[in-house]
Amino acid sequence: MNAATQFAALPKVELHCHIEGTMRADTVADLARQHSIDLPTSDVRSLYGYENLTGFLEVFWLVQSMLVTPDDWERLAYESVIDGAEHGLVYREAFCTPSRHLLDGQRLDEIVAALDRGCARAESETGTRCRLIFDIDREFGPEVALAHVTELAALRRSGASGADRVIGLGMDSTEIGIDPTTFAESYALAADVGLRRTAHQGENSPATTIAAAIDVLGCTRIDHGISVFEDSELVARLVDEQLPFTVCPNANVLINPDVCPQLDAHVFPRMRDAGLLATLNTDDPALVGLDLTQEYELCAAAFGYSVDDMVDIALDGVSGSWLDASDAASVSASIMAVAASIPSAT
Ligand code: ADE
Ligand code: ZN
Repeated sequence: MNAATQFAALPKVELHCHIEGTMRADTVADLARQHSIDLPTSDVRSLYGYENLTGFLEVFWLVQSMLVTPDDWERLAYESVIDGAEHGLVYREAFCTPSRHLLDGQRLDEIVAALDRGCARAESETGTRCRLIFDIDREFGPEVALAHVTELAALRRSGASGADRVIGLGMDSTEIGIDPTTFAESYALAADVGLRRTAHQGENSPATTIAAAIDVLGCTRIDHGISVFEDSELVARLVDEQLPFTVCPNANVLINPDVCPQLDAHVFPRMRDAGLLATLNTDDPALVGLDLTQEYELCAAAFGYSVDDMVDIALDGVSGSWLDASDAASVSASIMAVAASIPSAT
């Protein structure tokens, strides 16, 4: 078995993946046609080259804007899980960031119910499970965020359709110059309704923002967090606490080359060597042209990881997840069962 086949067969979980960033290029083009939205080019994939996070976010927002009706959200969720399952994905905690859509008049209850229908349909066909993390788009500020999280809290309290698939609150988009603590009210409300908490920090913001997300917002996980080595005391503390980081090495290089110019210089192996619980993820697979198996293959090659190392990384994805203990044990068992059949994994 060659490495590509080994990692394709290995069951994998993913904790950092934007559902909008999984939209197939053909679906982008199809929805643009259906909704008479002008795209800058007929070759959607030609838009997917980036100089920095700001430029990437413009493309991400363009892709997001194809989601106009509940059917579009349902189709996105369905195709997202189907495509993940093709590459060995067995469980995903996926972000959705509908701030723009809500500001445009779409309804959160309809978006959540539609995402739930799409996930459920794909789950029954593939067995791959997907739960959702509602992400605040920092771009619109704390007041808009609080209004949207208040709506989400009401959906959870009323047991609205699909609301139990949303298990966490996160925050993405622009990091530069934004103080995460200004979103504290949204995070406190999320905690009140039983949502877990995470945030994109340290992708291109300093380690102080990672500490603030943990200490002020109550985050129990950090998305990216690659600036953590600016603060050695924070590193030691997070090794001790085994707080999970959801790291996306290839996306960092492809989206953020000004911060991460090349994969073999990425801090992911340094994070793991230091004892941090650094998990491996794709971020926006369709928008960077990579799937989760390729993420594993490219990282194994760039960082000199053996198959056993990659199995450990897959298992750490389960440890970092928000699965309950019995589901986590069964996903881990499925990883170990396949790992045992891979000749070079002992
Ligand atoms: N939205 C989608 N991908 C993102 C990323 N890598 N950083 C911030 N916001 C995002
Ligand atoms: Zn992300």
